[in-house]
Amino acid sequence: MAQPRSRHVCQACGAVYGKWAGRCEACGAWNTIVEEATRETVPLGGKRRARDSGTGRKFAFTDLDDTPVEVPRRITGIAEFDRVTGGGLVSGSALLIGGDPGIGKSTLLLQVVGALAQGKAGTAPRCAYISGEEAVDQMRLRAARLNLTSAAIQLAAATSIRDILATLDTAPGADGAPEVVVIDTIQTMYVDSLESAPGTVAQVRASAQELIRLAKRRGFTVLLVGHVTKEGLIAGPMVLEHMVDTVLYFEGERGHQFRILRAVKNRFGPTDEIGVFEMTDGGLIEVPNPSALFLSEYRDDVIGAAVFAGMEGTRPVLVEIQALIAPSSFATPRRAVVGWDAGRLAMVLAVLEARCGLALAGRDVYLNVAGGLRITEPAADLAVAAALASSLTDLPMPPKTVVFGEIGLSGEVRPVGQRDSRLKEAAKLGFTQALAPPRVDTASAGRRPAIKVRELRRLADLLALFDGTRGARRRRERHQNQAAPQ
Ligand code: TYD
Ligand code: MG
Repeated sequence: MAQPRSRHVCQACGAVYGKWAGRCEACGAWNTIVEEATRETVPLGGKRRARDSGTGRKFAFTDLDDTPVEVPRRITGIAEFDRVTGGGLVSGSALLIGGDPGIGKSTLLLQVVGALAQGKAGTAPRCAYISGEEAVDQMRLRAARLNLTSAAIQLAAATSIRDILATLDTAPGADGAPEVVVIDTIQTMYVDSLESAPGTVAQVRASAQELIRLAKRRGFTVLLVGHVTKEGLIAGPMVLEHMVDTVLYFEGERGHQFRILRAVKNRFGPTDEIGVFEMTDGGLIEVPNPSALFLSEYRDDVIGAAVFAGMEGTRPVLVEIQALIAPSSFATPRRAVVGWDAGRLAMVLAVLEARCGLALAGRDVYLNVAGGLRITEPAADLAVAAALASSLTDLPMPPKTVVFGEIGLSGEVRPVGQRDSRLKEAAKLGFTQALAPPRVDTASAGRRPAIKVRELRRLADLLALFDGTRGARRRRERHQNQAAPQ
């Protein structure tokens, strides 16, 4: 009998090595390579199946316009979730929802299947929730807390893939077989033919493969939950991303009550939409107007803060950007960024220094996107520069002002897309002025938003707002009066 072979697998990215190493060459992570005992054969779903080697026969091609590619969707009725999935769940597809432990994945998915089962948006498909982490009673308690006790969700506590497959391997809809299945979490599931422990890359991959294959064959939607740790140490979503149709990440700061659902891969929709939720005592509630939430603590006389009029997919989102420039006590000054790209900050700082003559050497720079949002748009450049300039000059921004625009290396302000959506959202939230790049689309029809737009061509135009002019002096006085003790 052949010896069980062992191999070394990076638990972060799934790369396989013949021997142990301290650092994974594929993803660069340290101390993530773990020995896994494994046999190569994976008896699947109880039946041993030979590897699919094809039949050797020719297959026929079809034309692009042959079949209508209308994928039937199942709207959940939770609008923020439907937006991120691109308009509901697709039958026979697999979704992965990743996120830090405790962020609210189980809560979100229980609410999603609860809404589906209650038929919030039309038909009520049969839904099952299989948990490998919680007992059925715990799930009932959670459902009670979420006010879902009347929803017809089938609950089960199970971890064996063989048992789960045996249970689900019936036609969906027939004899109460579920049409939507949640597996919480994929790290707790195991395939008994593999010797490695649950949660290892081999187990996670094999378990997911089995579930996805069955979902495609039987036509149910499977929602896989996956934990990610900060270190990426648990074999997780990274090794599954290519296997599923849709990857969603549920993120948020522990200290904040809001959570953001983001699509990073979607075979059935766009990937730039976000869903915003607020975690409350009664579960997650949708936040249809995120700008109001992100700006709830914003005051416009604060030094080092600027409001960025951003876009998340098709939706405008206003968010506060905070900067602090302080004398450094280090030989190499610190640059700390939360919620934005560090490389992009370095570029904005370099342009401020080289093109506008700001002295930033020997100073620490901290940048924070308030509320835990992560911005990826280059359009935030100008708002970041405004926050930095405000901190450096010790002057607040002009009141009720939003900022957006990309900055080029020569110090020019470049136009960005969806200008009118940004301006409209700002006007809606009571802002009266926007600092923006020059308008390019002169032919744009429709009503102009009711907001004054100050067009900036160069970064120096922005800094002029912070020099010793009368307006700036007045702002400083107002700030000092307000800051003075009563
Ligand atoms: P949970 O969904 O268990 O997180 P995950 O599955 O991602 O590990 O949510 C965990 C946190 O959410 C927990 O700290 C408690 C909080 N919570 C609420 O604040 N309100 C609620 O109604 C529920 C169910 C949970
Ligand atoms: Mg959970």
